[in-house]
Amino acid sequence: MNSSLGSVLGFVSGLIIMAIVSAIMVEDLGEEKESLRKEVDFMRNTLNRITKIAPLRLLADKNGIQIGTCVSSSHLADRDYVETLTREFSVVTTENELKFEIVHPSPNSYVFEPADRIISVAEAHGMKVRGHTLVWHAQLPSWIVNGNFAKEEWKSILREHILTVVGRYRGRIWAWDVVNEAVDDTGSLRDTVWLKNIGPEYIELAFRWAHEADPGALLFYNDYGIEEVNAKSNAVYNLVKELLERGVPIHGVGFQMHVSLDNPPNPKKVAENIKRFTDLGLQVHITEMDVRIRLPATIDELIRQAQVYREILEVCLNSENCTAFVMWGFTDKYSWIPYAFPGYGAALIFDENYLPKPAYYALWETLFSRAIRNSPARTETTGS
Ligand code: XIL
Repeated sequence: MNSSLGSVLGFVSGLIIMAIVSAIMVEDLGEEKESLRKEVDFMRNTLNRITKIAPLRLLADKNGIQIGTCVSSSHLADRDYVETLTREFSVVTTENELKFEIVHPSPNSYVFEPADRIISVAEAHGMKVRGHTLVWHAQLPSWIVNGNFAKEEWKSILREHILTVVGRYRGRIWAWDVVNEAVDDTGSLRDTVWLKNIGPEYIELAFRWAHEADPGALLFYNDYGIEEVNAKSNAVYNLVKELLERGVPIHGVGFQMHVSLDNPPNPKKVAENIKRFTDLGLQVHITEMDVRIRLPATIDELIRQAQVYREILEVCLNSENCTAFVMWGFTDKYSWIPYAFPGYGAALIFDENYLPKPAYYALWETLFSRAIRNSPARTETTGS
């Protein structure tokens, strides 16, 4: 490796390790070590300046992948939120704004304004958009949940919904989660309003209609609990394989990756599982990663959490066709975890005050060291 790049890498990696180790020491030594605290602050400030010059999105770009987060329109008035979002990420997923309940609350009304606000922030900052989600069993309006229609009417409702929503953003949404969580934990098709009223072909139809509305968009099947090979991921594998065999326009599978530090995924097993999907010619996106911790989180747990983030990013970078690494939020100030998993939290890579956590540095350092290794300077200096 080019020696000056090598020493930059060594310096920065050292700084990261020192910042983390000294944070632990300061914690252990307690209040009396004010001088040490000042040095740690100095190191953290230096590190933060470096990461602001080379934020995650720049380093992800050098590694040929997208890095992203979900975004909620309700936080767009928070300046620190928008500043961190647009600095660090190259792709955003709409957290709730394109779900049926919000975008299509009654038969003849569509509400696009909240999604539009997210998408215009993304476009103003050269970020891609993942649209989430067209067909799901949750967050449905009551006219759908309590709907009493004939099968053909259900089909035309879903068709009109997909053509309208996808059509409105034609050319502007990079990837759609067309069908979300259609498989249950045993590996059977989930018993949803769509399965009951249309039958299993609703999945294929949804992909075909989405493709009709925007032939340029990447179309994904998205689910949780499919990180490793198991009954559910086997069922998803068989489902998408069959769709491909029948010529259905599907381009990828989203691994949500909502995981717990109590039981983190095994990176080797995740890699094996991703491989069988990419071997089908599909892309894989990590779509909703968070790593929840039982509160209060200790420094030791935050460091183990950083390791889980690092491992999954590395798996994605090492997989031929894993093209995006997206987290379900970026600041612990706003995360769905404390509501969905009471007693858990601290699941994201920035704390409530937008300060980077060890997990942020782990992602940063992984992308940075690989970017340096991949840098053209390396080939220029070989053989000299
Ligand atoms: C969550 C949102 O983050 C919450 O704000 C909302 O109340 C419930 O849904 N899997 C998904 C996401 O595909 O849409 C979910 O988002 C999290 C789990």
